[in-house]
Amino acid sequence: MMKNNLYRKSLAVTIIIIFFSLSINPVIVTSMSNEYPLPHPMPIDMTLLDAIFRRMSVRGFTDQNVTDDDLSTVLWAAYGYRDDGNRTVSGIDGVYASVIYVLKENAVYRYDPLNHSLVFYKDGDYRYIGQYEAPIQLGLVWDKNKSGNENYSGAEMGAIGQNIQFMANALNLGTVVTGEVPSPIDEIGLPSNEVGKIVMPLGYPNFSYDFTHRPMWLSLLPRIKEPGASLQTVLEERSETTSFAGNLTRSEVSQVLWASYGYSYLLDKSDAPNNPIKRHRTVPSAHGYYPLRMYAVTKSGIYRYIHGIFSCDRWGLPIVSFMLKIRNGDKREEIAQASQPFVVSAPFLIISVLDIRRTNQWDDLSAEKFRWIWYYEAGASAHNVLLQAKAWNLTASIALITDTESVRSLLRLNDNFLPLFIVPIGK
Ligand SMILES: Cc1cc2nc3c(=O)[nH]c(=O)nc-3n(C[C@H](O)[C@H](O)[C@H](O)COP(=O)(O)O)c2cc1C
Repeated sequence: MMKNNLYRKSLAVTIIIIFFSLSINPVIVTSMSNEYPLPHPMPIDMTLLDAIFRRMSVRGFTDQNVTDDDLSTVLWAAYGYRDDGNRTVSGIDGVYASVIYVLKENAVYRYDPLNHSLVFYKDGDYRYIGQYEAPIQLGLVWDKNKSGNENYSGAEMGAIGQNIQFMANALNLGTVVTGEVPSPIDEIGLPSNEVGKIVMPLGYPNFSYDFTHRPMWLSLLPRIKEPGASLQTVLEERSETTSFAGNLTRSEVSQVLWASYGYSYLLDKSDAPNNPIKRHRTVPSAHGYYPLRMYAVTKSGIYRYIHGIFSCDRWGLPIVSFMLKIRNGDKREEIAQASQPFVVSAPFLIISVLDIRRTNQWDDLSAEKFRWIWYYEAGASAHNVLLQAKAWNLTASIALITDTESVRSLLRLNDNFLPLFIVPIGK
């Protein structure tokens, strides 16, 4: 009887301790149940336009902790599910092939988008694998069982990385895309079907964001003036479509081209460590090479988007942008034959093209094994256009190129150039 009482008492004490542990710190749940739910993502008050304007790489962090609320909001934006069952990014060809690992102080977790939770992966502090010290490192990994195409997986990560950068900035956090080959994320010991690609540190910048509105716009294209929808709305409502109507106004043309590869209207006045760039672009680029070209196809012809005639990144010089006509005539039918049939109905197409020579500047990143890095950039660009289209009540999607040679010849390019994606846009 005595023994029984003692047993009951110690059971009650254990239950009380567990109850308090659970309510004080959700991480404790992890070590017992292997999974803990993240809090609901926080509402964000920033327009998409500002999020794109303010995109920049952050490479220095304070040791202030990233809260579960912040982490939840960033992960949801990165790869989460929405109330309508769709994701915050579009899978290339409908396939979702990424896994996000979350490296925290004591352990590594996998983000489970379906349950919006962190699933315990292994004990230990692996954050040292990042190039930059930060309270959290996010590892973006390609699951080869989900997609056999490394380049398309890179493009999908481009969209994920954009959302992480946008959301981090909106929360006053910061991050930078780092992509090494092979990736240091492999050091955590990944399953054999997974390959590490990108590491993004996440934390509070050790400087203050400081932007000044200084467009210095000498463009032949209309100015970007309307803020459009919020970042949150476009993430919640972004959709892809395969049938289009209507025509784009000149302002809409200017806006979507700018989102694909333009310069910010803001000058970066911060003294961010390791970042000399004063005028950032709408997407990041490995080594700052920016080797892509954007072409526009309409019923009147094919144009090359000139996003700036000076190298204004470091000096913040004026933005001189225009559309340079390459050929006359409606070539959309021929483009559709070399890609996916549905693009023919779109009034406006953007084609991203890699200039392979520009991937070999002070460091040679032109080999096939680095190609996914440039697909990352094209994926980030296409994602921006999809978000921008939503913000302006247009529709868009990402089409694959099936006949590279034909697209090259339509754009009058030689084999130094590789067409990557087509983004049809319409109403
Ligand atoms: C695929 C990819 C890989 C990158 N890898 C690195 C990297 O390893 N280290 C780094 O500091 N920045 C890296 N960057 C960031 C670029 O250096 C940065 O985007 C570029 O210099 C422009 O600066 P901004 O993003 O501040 O505008 C990478 C960017 C991309 C898209």
